[in-house]
Amino acid sequence: MTHKKQHSLLNKANEASDMISKHIKDDHVIRIISHNDADGLSAAGVIANAIKEEGGQFHTTILSRLKPEDVKELSKEKYNLFIFSDMGSAHLKLINKFKSEVIIADHHQVDDTESEDHIIHVNPHIYGIDGSKELSGAGSSYLSIRNLGDGENNKKHLAPLALVGAFGDMQFNDGFIGANELIVEDGIEFGNLEIHQDLKIVSKNQEPLYKSLAYTLNPAMPGLTGDLEGSMGFLEKIGISYGIKFTDLEDEEKDVLKDELIKLNPDIFGSIYSVPKENPVLRNLEEYSYILDACGKNKKTGLGLSIAFGERAEALDAALNLQKKYRDQLIKGMEWIKREGAVQMDFIQYVYSEDKVLKSVMGTISSVGIAAEILDSDKPILSMARMHNDVKVSGRTTRDMIEKGVDLGKVLHDSSLSFGGQGGGHDIAAGAMVPYKEMDNFLNLVNDMVEHQIENN
Ligand code: C5P
Ligand code: C5P
Ligand code: C5P
Ligand code: ZN
Repeated sequence: MTHKKQHSLLNKANEASDMISKHIKDDHVIRIISHNDADGLSAAGVIANAIKEEGGQFHTTILSRLKPEDVKELSKEKYNLFIFSDMGSAHLKLINKFKSEVIIADHHQVDDTESEDHIIHVNPHIYGIDGSKELSGAGSSYLSIRNLGDGENNKKHLAPLALVGAFGDMQFNDGFIGANELIVEDGIEFGNLEIHQDLKIVSKNQEPLYKSLAYTLNPAMPGLTGDLEGSMGFLEKIGISYGIKFTDLEDEEKDVLKDELIKLNPDIFGSIYSVPKENPVLRNLEEYSYILDACGKNKKTGLGLSIAFGERAEALDAALNLQKKYRDQLIKGMEWIKREGAVQMDFIQYVYSEDKVLKSVMGTISSVGIAAEILDSDKPILSMARMHNDVKVSGRTTRDMIEKGVDLGKVLHDSSLSFGGQGGGHDIAAGAMVPYKEMDNFLNLVNDMVEHQIENN
Protein backbone atom coordinates (compact mmCIF):
# COMPACT_ATOMS: atom_id res chain seq x y z
CA MET A 1 0.00 0.00 0.00
CA THR A 2 2.74 2.42 0.97
CA HIS A 3 4.44 1.85 -2.33
CA LYS A 4 1.39 2.79 -4.29
CA LYS A 5 0.95 5.99 -2.31
CA GLN A 6 4.61 6.83 -2.68
CA HIS A 7 4.42 6.14 -6.38
CA SER A 8 1.58 8.65 -6.82
CA LEU A 9 3.47 11.24 -4.79
CA LEU A 10 6.62 10.68 -6.86
CA ASN A 11 4.68 11.03 -10.11
CA LYS A 12 3.33 14.37 -8.96
CA ALA A 13 6.81 15.45 -7.85
CA ASN A 14 8.25 14.47 -11.24
CA GLU A 15 5.73 16.80 -12.87
CA ALA A 16 7.26 19.53 -10.74
CA SER A 17 10.76 18.70 -12.02
CA ASP A 18 9.48 18.92 -15.60
CA MET A 19 7.88 22.27 -14.91
CA ILE A 20 11.06 23.67 -13.35
CA SER A 21 13.13 22.41 -16.33
CA LYS A 22 10.83 24.15 -18.74
CA HIS A 23 11.18 27.49 -16.97
CA ILE A 24 14.95 27.16 -16.71
CA LYS A 25 15.11 26.54 -20.47
CA ASP A 26 13.01 29.67 -21.00
CA ASP A 27 15.47 31.70 -18.89
CA HIS A 28 12.81 32.61 -16.36
CA VAL A 29 13.88 33.72 -12.90
CA ILE A 30 12.15 31.32 -10.51
CA ARG A 31 10.52 32.81 -7.42
CA ILE A 32 11.10 30.73 -4.27
CA ILE A 33 9.15 31.40 -1.06
CA SER A 34 10.04 29.34 1.98
CA HIS A 35 9.70 29.08 5.74
CA ASN A 36 12.23 30.47 8.24
CA ASP A 37 12.90 27.32 10.24
CA ALA A 38 15.54 24.63 9.63
CA ASP A 39 13.17 22.70 7.39
CA GLY A 40 12.16 25.73 5.35
CA LEU A 41 15.75 26.92 4.95
CA SER A 42 16.96 23.51 3.81
CA ALA A 43 13.94 23.27 1.50
CA ALA A 44 14.94 26.55 -0.15
CA GLY A 45 18.55 25.35 -0.24
CA VAL A 46 17.62 22.09 -1.98
CA ILE A 47 15.63 23.92 -4.65
CA ALA A 48 18.14 26.73 -5.15
CA ASN A 49 21.08 24.32 -5.47
CA ALA A 50 19.23 22.23 -8.02
CA ILE A 51 18.24 25.24 -10.12
CA LYS A 52 21.75 26.67 -10.01
CA GLU A 53 23.27 23.35 -11.10
CA GLU A 54 21.00 23.40 -14.14
CA GLY A 55 22.11 26.92 -15.01
CA GLY A 56 18.87 28.55 -13.88
CA GLN A 57 18.21 31.68 -11.84
CA PHE A 58 16.07 32.22 -8.79
CA HIS A 59 14.99 34.84 -6.28
CA THR A 60 14.26 33.64 -2.74
CA THR A 61 12.26 35.12 0.12
CA ILE A 62 12.05 33.53 3.56
CA LEU A 63 8.99 34.19 5.73
CA SER A 64 8.23 33.27 9.33
CA ARG A 65 4.64 32.75 8.34
CA LEU A 66 2.73 32.99 5.08
CA LYS A 67 -0.12 35.41 5.61
CA PRO A 68 -3.01 35.87 3.17
CA GLU A 69 -1.74 39.42 2.50
CA ASP A 70 1.68 38.00 1.55
CA VAL A 71 0.11 35.61 -0.91
CA LYS A 72 -1.93 38.42 -2.47
CA GLU A 73 1.18 40.61 -2.81
CA LEU A 74 3.16 37.77 -4.38
CA SER A 75 0.40 37.15 -6.90
CA LYS A 76 1.08 40.61 -8.33
CA GLU A 77 4.78 39.89 -8.94
CA LYS A 78 5.76 39.28 -12.55
CA TYR A 79 7.33 35.85 -12.33
CA ASN A 80 6.44 32.91 -14.53
CA LEU A 81 7.04 30.26 -11.89
CA PHE A 82 6.55 30.48 -8.13
CA ILE A 83 7.71 27.70 -5.79
CA PHE A 84 6.32 27.65 -2.26
CA SER A 85 8.29 25.30 -0.05
CA ASP A 86 7.44 24.14 3.49
CA MET A 87 4.37 26.37 3.19
CA GLY A 88 1.56 27.14 0.78
CA SER A 89 -0.81 24.20 1.19
CA ALA A 90 -2.93 26.15 3.68
CA HIS A 91 -3.36 28.95 1.12
CA LEU A 92 -4.40 26.93 -1.89
CA LYS A 93 -7.59 28.96 -2.38
CA LEU A 94 -5.57 32.16 -2.87
CA ILE A 95 -2.81 30.48 -4.87
CA ASN A 96 -5.47 29.12 -7.22
CA LYS A 97 -5.94 32.73 -8.35
CA PHE A 98 -2.32 33.13 -9.52
CA LYS A 99 -1.89 33.87 -13.23
CA SER A 100 1.54 32.16 -13.36
CA GLU A 101 2.49 28.56 -12.82
CA VAL A 102 3.07 27.48 -9.22
CA ILE A 103 4.66 24.54 -7.42
CA ILE A 104 3.72 23.96 -3.80
CA ALA A 105 6.17 21.61 -2.08
CA ASP A 106 4.75 21.37 1.42
CA HIS A 107 3.99 18.84 4.14
CA HIS A 108 1.51 20.68 6.36
CA GLN A 109 -2.04 19.43 6.72
CA VAL A 110 -4.29 20.10 3.73
CA ASP A 111 -7.99 20.93 3.46
CA ASP A 112 -10.23 19.71 0.65
CA THR A 113 -9.53 22.59 -1.77
CA GLU A 114 -8.72 21.26 -5.26
CA SER A 115 -5.78 22.83 -7.07
CA GLU A 116 -6.26 24.47 -10.47
CA ASP A 117 -4.33 23.30 -13.53
CA HIS A 118 -1.53 25.87 -13.24
CA ILE A 119 -0.55 24.42 -9.85
CA ILE A 120 1.50 21.34 -9.04
CA HIS A 121 0.75 20.51 -5.45
CA VAL A 122 3.32 18.18 -3.93
CA ASN A 123 2.16 17.29 -0.41
CA PRO A 124 2.32 13.82 1.17
CA HIS A 125 -1.05 14.25 2.94
CA ILE A 126 -2.83 14.30 -0.43
CA TYR A 127 -1.58 10.75 -1.00
CA GLY A 128 -2.35 9.47 2.48
CA ILE A 129 1.25 9.83 3.64
CA ASP A 130 1.72 11.44 7.07
CA GLY A 131 3.58 14.71 6.55
CA SER A 132 4.34 15.11 10.23
CA LYS A 133 6.42 11.91 10.34
CA GLU A 134 7.22 10.67 6.86
CA LEU A 135 8.23 13.70 4.81
CA SER A 136 9.38 17.23 5.61
CA GLY A 137 9.09 20.42 3.57
CA ALA A 138 12.69 19.93 2.45
CA GLY A 139 11.71 16.36 1.54
CA SER A 140 8.76 17.49 -0.59
CA SER A 141 11.10 20.01 -2.22
CA TYR A 142 13.74 17.37 -2.80
CA LEU A 143 11.26 15.06 -4.52
CA SER A 144 10.18 18.02 -6.66
CA ILE A 145 13.71 18.54 -8.01
CA ARG A 146 14.94 14.92 -7.84
CA ASN A 147 14.46 14.34 -11.54
CA LEU A 148 15.83 17.67 -12.77
CA GLY A 149 18.57 17.52 -15.39
CA ASP A 150 19.65 14.77 -17.77
CA GLY A 151 18.83 11.20 -16.84
CA GLU A 152 16.69 9.83 -14.02
CA ASN A 153 16.83 10.93 -10.40
CA ASN A 154 19.76 13.17 -11.02
CA LYS A 155 19.76 15.10 -7.81
CA LYS A 156 20.44 12.34 -5.31
CA HIS A 157 23.46 14.23 -3.99
CA LEU A 158 20.99 16.69 -2.42
CA ALA A 159 19.34 13.96 -0.34
CA PRO A 160 21.36 14.80 2.84
CA LEU A 161 20.20 18.44 2.73
CA ALA A 162 16.62 17.19 2.48
CA LEU A 163 17.24 15.11 5.62
CA VAL A 164 18.50 18.22 7.43
CA GLY A 165 14.93 19.48 7.04
CA ALA A 166 13.50 16.24 8.39
CA PHE A 167 15.78 16.51 11.44
CA GLY A 168 14.73 20.14 11.89
CA ASP A 169 11.09 19.12 12.05
CA MET A 170 11.88 16.31 14.51
CA GLN A 171 10.95 13.55 12.07
CA PHE A 172 13.86 11.39 13.11
CA ASN A 173 12.53 9.00 15.69
CA ASP A 174 14.95 6.16 16.21
CA GLY A 175 15.20 6.11 12.40
CA PHE A 176 13.32 7.56 9.45
CA ILE A 177 10.13 6.08 8.02
CA GLY A 178 8.07 6.34 4.86
CA ALA A 179 9.15 8.74 2.16
CA ASN A 180 12.05 9.95 4.34
CA GLU A 181 13.45 6.44 4.08
CA LEU A 182 13.53 6.72 0.32
CA ILE A 183 15.60 9.90 0.67
CA VAL A 184 18.01 8.08 2.99
CA GLU A 185 18.38 5.34 0.37
CA ASP A 186 19.12 7.99 -2.28
CA GLY A 187 21.90 9.48 -0.17
CA ILE A 188 23.43 6.08 0.58
CA GLU A 189 23.21 5.09 -3.06
CA PHE A 190 24.81 8.32 -4.24
CA GLY A 191 27.50 7.82 -1.63
CA ASN A 192 27.67 11.12 0.25
CA LEU A 193 25.54 10.00 3.21
CA GLU A 194 26.85 7.73 5.98
CA ILE A 195 25.13 6.26 9.01
CA HIS A 196 27.05 5.11 12.06
CA GLN A 197 26.28 4.41 15.71
CA ASP A 198 27.50 6.85 18.32
CA LEU A 199 26.58 8.98 21.32
CA LYS A 200 24.11 11.62 20.17
CA ILE A 201 25.40 14.55 22.21
CA VAL A 202 25.99 17.85 20.42
CA SER A 203 29.08 19.94 19.71
CA LYS A 204 31.43 17.20 20.92
CA ASN A 205 34.57 18.95 19.77
CA GLN A 206 33.43 22.53 20.37
CA GLU A 207 31.96 22.80 23.84
CA PRO A 208 32.94 21.67 27.34
CA LEU A 209 31.22 18.41 28.12
CA TYR A 210 28.65 19.80 30.58
CA LYS A 211 27.45 22.20 27.88
CA SER A 212 27.32 19.44 25.30
CA LEU A 213 24.99 17.56 27.66
CA ALA A 214 22.80 20.54 28.55
CA TYR A 215 22.49 21.56 24.89
CA THR A 216 21.45 18.09 23.77
CA LEU A 217 17.70 18.40 23.33
CA ASN A 218 17.07 15.34 21.23
CA PRO A 219 16.86 12.83 22.76
CA ALA A 220 16.07 14.70 25.95
CA MET A 221 17.76 13.50 29.11
CA PRO A 222 15.86 14.20 32.32
CA GLY A 223 18.02 16.28 34.66
CA LEU A 224 20.60 17.18 32.00
CA THR A 225 18.77 18.66 29.00
CA GLY A 226 18.57 22.43 29.35
CA ASP A 227 20.19 22.23 32.77
CA LEU A 228 23.82 23.40 33.04
CA GLU A 229 24.07 22.77 36.79
CA GLY A 230 22.39 19.40 36.51
CA SER A 231 24.88 18.42 33.81
CA MET A 232 27.86 19.53 35.91
CA GLY A 233 26.55 17.63 38.92
CA PHE A 234 26.01 14.50 36.86
CA LEU A 235 29.56 14.58 35.50
CA GLU A 236 31.05 15.19 38.94
CA LYS A 237 29.07 12.26 40.30
CA ILE A 238 30.42 9.88 37.67
CA GLY A 239 33.93 11.22 38.11
CA ILE A 240 34.46 12.96 34.79
CA SER A 241 35.70 16.53 34.72
CA TYR A 242 32.97 18.71 33.30
CA GLY A 243 35.12 21.33 31.60
CA ILE A 244 36.79 18.95 29.15
CA LYS A 245 35.53 18.48 25.61
CA PHE A 246 34.03 15.09 24.78
CA THR A 247 36.62 14.53 22.07
CA ASP A 248 39.42 15.01 24.62
CA LEU A 249 38.17 12.27 26.97
CA GLU A 250 40.12 9.04 27.40
CA ASP A 251 38.48 6.00 25.84
CA GLU A 252 37.62 4.52 29.26
CA GLU A 253 35.98 7.80 30.25
CA LYS A 254 33.92 7.77 27.07
CA ASP A 255 32.74 4.27 27.96
CA VAL A 256 31.75 5.27 31.50
CA LEU A 257 29.89 8.30 30.16
CA LYS A 258 28.12 6.21 27.56
CA ASP A 259 26.96 3.63 30.12
CA GLU A 260 25.69 6.31 32.51
CA LEU A 261 23.87 8.25 29.79
CA ILE A 262 22.22 5.11 28.44
CA LYS A 263 20.79 4.51 31.93
CA LEU A 264 19.07 7.91 31.66
CA ASN A 265 17.84 7.43 28.11
CA PRO A 266 18.81 4.50 25.87
CA ASP A 267 18.11 6.60 22.76
CA ILE A 268 21.22 8.67 23.53
CA PHE A 269 23.25 6.03 21.73
CA GLY A 270 22.04 5.57 18.19
CA SER A 271 22.31 6.35 14.51
CA ILE A 272 24.19 9.44 13.42
CA TYR A 273 23.55 10.59 9.85
CA SER A 274 26.51 12.37 8.41
CA VAL A 275 28.17 13.65 5.28
CA PRO A 276 31.84 12.86 5.94
CA LYS A 277 33.04 15.30 3.27
CA GLU A 278 31.18 18.25 4.85
CA ASN A 279 32.66 20.97 7.02
CA PRO A 280 33.09 19.42 10.52
CA VAL A 281 30.40 21.55 12.18
CA LEU A 282 27.83 20.64 9.52
CA ARG A 283 28.89 17.03 9.09
CA ASN A 284 26.24 15.66 11.44
CA LEU A 285 22.93 16.41 9.69
CA GLU A 286 21.04 16.85 12.93
CA GLU A 287 23.52 19.43 14.19
CA TYR A 288 23.38 21.10 10.78
CA SER A 289 19.65 21.51 11.32
CA TYR A 290 20.20 23.16 14.73
CA ILE A 291 22.51 25.71 13.14
CA LEU A 292 19.89 26.58 10.54
CA ASP A 293 17.28 26.74 13.28
CA ALA A 294 19.41 29.22 15.23
CA CYS A 295 19.67 31.40 12.10
CA GLY A 296 15.92 31.26 11.51
CA LYS A 297 14.84 31.92 15.08
CA ASN A 298 17.21 34.92 15.26
CA LYS A 299 15.84 36.33 12.02
CA LYS A 300 19.13 35.83 10.15
CA THR A 301 17.59 33.83 7.36
CA GLY A 302 20.06 35.14 4.77
CA LEU A 303 22.79 33.51 6.78
CA GLY A 304 20.92 30.21 6.94
CA LEU A 305 20.28 30.33 3.21
CA SER A 306 23.96 31.00 2.44
CA ILE A 307 24.93 27.95 4.44
CA ALA A 308 22.39 25.69 2.78
CA PHE A 309 23.42 27.10 -0.57
CA GLY A 310 27.05 26.19 0.09
CA GLU A 311 28.37 29.74 0.45
CA ARG A 312 30.07 29.20 3.76
CA ALA A 313 33.09 31.53 3.85
CA GLU A 314 31.94 33.98 6.53
CA ALA A 315 28.47 32.68 7.12
CA LEU A 316 29.49 29.72 9.22
CA ASP A 317 31.29 31.66 11.96
CA ALA A 318 28.42 34.09 12.21
CA ALA A 319 25.96 31.21 12.41
CA LEU A 320 27.93 29.49 15.16
CA ASN A 321 27.84 32.70 17.17
CA LEU A 322 24.10 32.87 16.70
CA GLN A 323 23.83 29.30 17.84
CA LYS A 324 25.61 30.19 21.09
CA LYS A 325 23.13 32.98 21.64
CA TYR A 326 20.18 30.77 20.74
CA ARG A 327 21.34 28.06 23.13
CA ASP A 328 21.54 30.60 25.96
CA GLN A 329 17.97 31.56 25.14
CA LEU A 330 16.86 27.94 25.17
CA ILE A 331 18.51 27.37 28.56
CA LYS A 332 16.76 30.48 29.93
CA GLY A 333 13.51 29.15 28.53
CA MET A 334 14.00 25.74 30.07
CA GLU A 335 14.81 27.31 33.46
CA TRP A 336 11.69 29.41 33.20
CA ILE A 337 9.40 26.54 32.33
CA LYS A 338 10.89 24.46 35.16
CA ARG A 339 10.35 27.29 37.63
CA GLU A 340 6.88 28.34 36.54
CA GLY A 341 5.39 25.04 35.39
CA ALA A 342 2.27 25.11 33.26
CA VAL A 343 -1.29 26.15 34.10
CA GLN A 344 -3.40 23.00 34.18
CA MET A 345 -6.80 22.67 32.54
CA ASP A 346 -8.68 19.37 32.34
CA PHE A 347 -7.37 18.30 28.93
CA ILE A 348 -4.60 20.76 28.09
CA GLN A 349 -1.92 22.78 29.88
CA TYR A 350 -0.52 26.16 28.92
CA VAL A 351 2.21 28.71 29.62
CA TYR A 352 2.06 32.42 28.87
CA SER A 353 4.76 35.04 28.50
CA GLU A 354 5.32 38.57 27.28
CA ASP A 355 9.12 38.26 27.53
CA LYS A 356 10.91 38.85 24.23
CA VAL A 357 13.50 36.09 24.64
CA LEU A 358 11.01 33.52 25.83
CA LYS A 359 8.67 34.27 22.95
CA SER A 360 11.19 33.13 20.38
CA VAL A 361 11.83 29.76 22.03
CA MET A 362 8.40 28.86 23.41
CA GLY A 363 7.59 26.15 20.85
CA THR A 364 10.94 24.47 21.26
CA ILE A 365 10.95 24.51 25.06
CA SER A 366 7.43 23.11 25.01
CA SER A 367 8.47 20.01 23.03
CA VAL A 368 11.70 19.65 24.95
CA GLY A 369 9.92 20.33 28.27
CA ILE A 370 7.66 17.35 27.68
CA ALA A 371 10.49 15.15 26.46
CA ALA A 372 12.72 16.04 29.43
CA GLU A 373 9.85 15.25 31.82
CA ILE A 374 9.69 18.80 33.14
CA LEU A 375 6.12 19.05 31.88
CA ASP A 376 3.35 16.49 32.06
CA SER A 377 3.29 14.42 28.87
CA ASP A 378 -0.36 13.37 29.09
CA LYS A 379 -1.81 16.74 28.16
CA PRO A 380 -0.98 18.79 25.07
CA ILE A 381 0.95 21.95 25.93
CA LEU A 382 0.07 25.34 24.48
CA SER A 383 2.56 28.18 24.83
CA MET A 384 1.08 31.63 24.45
CA ALA A 385 3.10 34.74 23.62
CA ARG A 386 1.64 38.23 23.37
CA MET A 387 2.16 39.90 19.98
CA HIS A 388 0.49 43.34 20.03
CA ASN A 389 -3.24 42.70 19.87
CA ASP A 390 -2.82 39.01 19.18
CA VAL A 391 -1.46 36.06 20.97
CA LYS A 392 0.83 33.62 19.15
CA VAL A 393 0.12 30.05 20.11
CA SER A 394 2.50 27.08 19.80
CA GLY A 395 1.05 23.67 20.53
CA ARG A 396 3.00 20.45 21.07
CA THR A 397 1.98 16.95 22.05
CA THR A 398 3.25 13.36 21.92
CA ARG A 399 2.79 10.27 19.74
CA ASP A 400 0.93 8.68 22.69
CA MET A 401 -1.65 11.46 22.74
CA ILE A 402 -2.11 11.17 18.98
CA GLU A 403 -2.85 7.47 19.48
CA LYS A 404 -5.51 8.60 21.94
CA GLY A 405 -7.15 10.75 19.25
CA VAL A 406 -5.51 14.17 19.63
CA ASP A 407 -4.85 16.16 16.43
CA LEU A 408 -3.47 19.58 17.39
CA GLY A 409 -3.33 20.79 13.79
CA LYS A 410 -7.06 20.32 13.43
CA VAL A 411 -7.85 21.73 16.87
CA LEU A 412 -5.80 24.90 16.37
CA HIS A 413 -7.12 25.37 12.84
CA ASP A 414 -10.76 25.08 13.83
CA SER A 415 -10.56 26.86 17.19
CA SER A 416 -8.61 29.87 15.87
CA LEU A 417 -11.10 30.29 13.00
CA SER A 418 -13.91 30.60 15.56
CA PHE A 419 -12.25 33.72 16.94
CA GLY A 420 -11.26 35.26 13.62
CA GLY A 421 -7.70 33.94 13.91
CA GLN A 422 -5.68 31.50 11.85
CA GLY A 423 -3.89 28.29 12.68
CA GLY A 424 -2.93 24.75 11.77
CA GLY A 425 0.15 22.62 11.20
CA HIS A 426 0.59 18.98 12.15
CA ASP A 427 -1.13 16.57 14.52
CA ILE A 428 1.87 16.63 16.87
CA ALA A 429 2.92 20.27 16.53
CA ALA A 430 0.74 23.17 15.49
CA GLY A 431 0.36 26.88 15.96
CA ALA A 432 -2.14 29.70 15.73
CA MET A 433 -2.68 33.46 16.01
CA VAL A 434 -5.76 34.63 17.87
CA PRO A 435 -6.93 38.01 19.20
CA TYR A 436 -5.48 38.57 22.68
CA LYS A 437 -8.83 39.51 24.16
CA GLU A 438 -10.18 36.08 23.21
CA MET A 439 -7.36 34.16 24.87
CA ASP A 440 -9.42 32.67 27.71
CA ASN A 441 -12.31 31.73 25.45
CA PHE A 442 -9.85 30.25 22.99
CA LEU A 443 -8.17 28.13 25.67
CA ASN A 444 -11.55 26.86 26.85
CA LEU A 445 -12.53 25.92 23.32
CA VAL A 446 -9.23 24.13 22.71
CA ASN A 447 -9.67 22.25 25.99
CA ASP A 448 -13.19 21.18 24.93
CA MET A 449 -12.06 20.16 21.45
CA VAL A 450 -9.23 18.03 22.80
CA GLU A 451 -11.67 16.39 25.23
CA HIS A 452 -13.99 15.72 22.31
CA GLN A 453 -11.20 14.20 20.18
CA ILE A 454 -10.18 11.86 22.99
CA GLU A 455 -13.75 10.82 23.81
CA ASN A 456 -14.60 10.13 20.19
CA ASN A 457 -11.47 8.16 19.42
O1 C5P B 1 6.35 24.59 10.12
P1 C5P B 1 6.95 23.29 10.34
O2 C5P B 1 6.23 22.14 9.81
O3 C5P B 1 8.33 23.30 9.77
O4 C5P B 1 7.16 23.04 11.87
C1 C5P B 1 7.06 21.78 12.44
C2 C5P B 1 7.30 21.93 13.92
O5 C5P B 1 6.84 20.75 14.55
C3 C5P B 1 8.77 22.07 14.29
O6 C5P B 1 8.88 23.09 15.25
C4 C5P B 1 9.09 20.71 14.89
O7 C5P B 1 10.12 20.72 15.81
C5 C5P B 1 7.77 20.34 15.52
N1 C5P B 1 7.66 18.91 15.77
C6 C5P B 1 7.72 18.45 17.08
N2 C5P B 1 7.66 17.11 17.35
C7 C5P B 1 7.54 16.23 16.34
C8 C5P B 1 7.45 16.67 15.01
C9 C5P B 1 7.51 18.03 14.76
O8 C5P B 1 7.83 19.27 17.99
N3 C5P B 1 7.50 14.93 16.64
O1 C5P C 1 10.26 24.44 17.87
P1 C5P C 1 10.51 22.99 17.57
O2 C5P C 1 9.36 22.16 17.85
O3 C5P C 1 11.24 22.86 16.30
O4 C5P C 1 11.55 22.50 18.72
C1 C5P C 1 12.39 21.40 18.57
C2 C5P C 1 13.64 21.97 18.02
O5 C5P C 1 14.69 22.02 18.92
C3 C5P C 1 14.16 21.22 16.84
O6 C5P C 1 13.56 21.72 15.69
C4 C5P C 1 15.61 21.59 16.84
O7 C5P C 1 15.91 22.44 15.78
C5 C5P C 1 15.80 22.34 18.16
N1 C5P C 1 17.00 21.91 18.77
C6 C5P C 1 18.06 22.81 18.91
N2 C5P C 1 19.21 22.42 19.49
C7 C5P C 1 19.34 21.17 19.91
C8 C5P C 1 18.28 20.25 19.78
C9 C5P C 1 17.10 20.66 19.21
O8 C5P C 1 17.94 23.95 18.50
N3 C5P C 1 20.48 20.83 20.49
O1 C5P D 1 5.16 28.32 15.43
P1 C5P D 1 5.29 26.88 15.76
O2 C5P D 1 6.70 26.36 15.68
O3 C5P D 1 4.64 26.51 17.04
O4 C5P D 1 4.50 26.11 14.62
C1 C5P D 1 4.19 24.75 14.71
C2 C5P D 1 3.51 24.34 13.42
O5 C5P D 1 2.26 25.03 13.25
C3 C5P D 1 4.31 24.66 12.20
O6 C5P D 1 4.15 23.61 11.31
C4 C5P D 1 3.67 25.92 11.67
O7 C5P D 1 3.85 26.04 10.28
C5 C5P D 1 2.22 25.74 12.03
N1 C5P D 1 1.53 27.05 12.24
C6 C5P D 1 0.42 27.40 11.48
N2 C5P D 1 -0.21 28.61 11.69
C7 C5P D 1 0.24 29.47 12.63
C8 C5P D 1 1.37 29.14 13.41
C9 C5P D 1 2.01 27.91 13.19
O8 C5P D 1 -0.01 26.64 10.63
N3 C5P D 1 -0.38 30.63 12.81
ZN1 ZN E 1 8.36 21.77 7.87
